[in-house]
Amino acid sequence: MNERTTDYGRLIVGTKAELFQRALDLGVTARGSAERSRFLWALTGGGTPKEWYQWVVAEKKLSPAEAAGIDWTVSDERHVLLNSPESNFGNAERQLLAPLEVPTDRRHPWMVAWPVAEAAEAYRRTMLILAGPGRAYDVCFLGMGDDCHTASLFPGTPLLNDDGGLPFDGQEVPGKGWRLTITPTGLRQCGLIVVMTLGANKADALHRIMNGPYEPMNVPSQILKTCANRVVWLVDEAAAAKL
Ligand code: 6PG
Repeated sequence: MNERTTDYGRLIVGTKAELFQRALDLGVTARGSAERSRFLWALTGGGTPKEWYQWVVAEKKLSPAEAAGIDWTVSDERHVLLNSPESNFGNAERQLLAPLEVPTDRRHPWMVAWPVAEAAEAYRRTMLILAGPGRAYDVCFLGMGDDCHTASLFPGTPLLNDDGGLPFDGQEVPGKGWRLTITPTGLRQCGLIVVMTLGANKADALHRIMNGPYEPMNVPSQILKTCANRVVWLVDEAAAAKL
């Protein structure tokens, strides 16, 4: 694997198998060195995590005992019920947490049955109890879309104004419906952020993030520059082709 430091975090380029293993190792190592008894690991949405869940389960990479020592959530969520195939936490449950028999009191979905404002408020209260004041996730997995979005921070969203506001919030994203998401403030309160980005369709976006002008309102993933010392990008050769 090829590694270097960038303005946006540590960049690691490798094969999918290497990156999947590194993603797991980063989380497990952080868990091992955590001082608190509770450890919050946020999974994320998109196709890459789904493949990663299947790999973790099929290859028996995490034991039920290890998984039960972690509090699991997701970085962002669609405002749909958990049984929807669109639900990020629902997918994480079906493909990772249930197969690993993670106890239900270690599973922390967004409260999607409630209206978005109440759901965001209830989630903030839960995270405050689990993480403590001024802290968000110990490990936050993220993906990156070909429009440079990350979590549910899409180009133009007011949540990108980055005014030191709430760590988690909800909003309507034009054309995509209601979303609940970690905000820039929340990202800065995470212990470690792991962005997994695979495939040739991500090459232009990655180039724009890392080599283009800093304009996070149009290029949301650039917001990670504000916490770059805790960010690791796991990128395959195809996605890294234009760096
Ligand atoms: C979601 C995500 C989103 C995702 C990217 C990348 O809910 O869809 O949180 O930010 O991570 O769109 O998705 P892929 O893994 O499919 O490229």
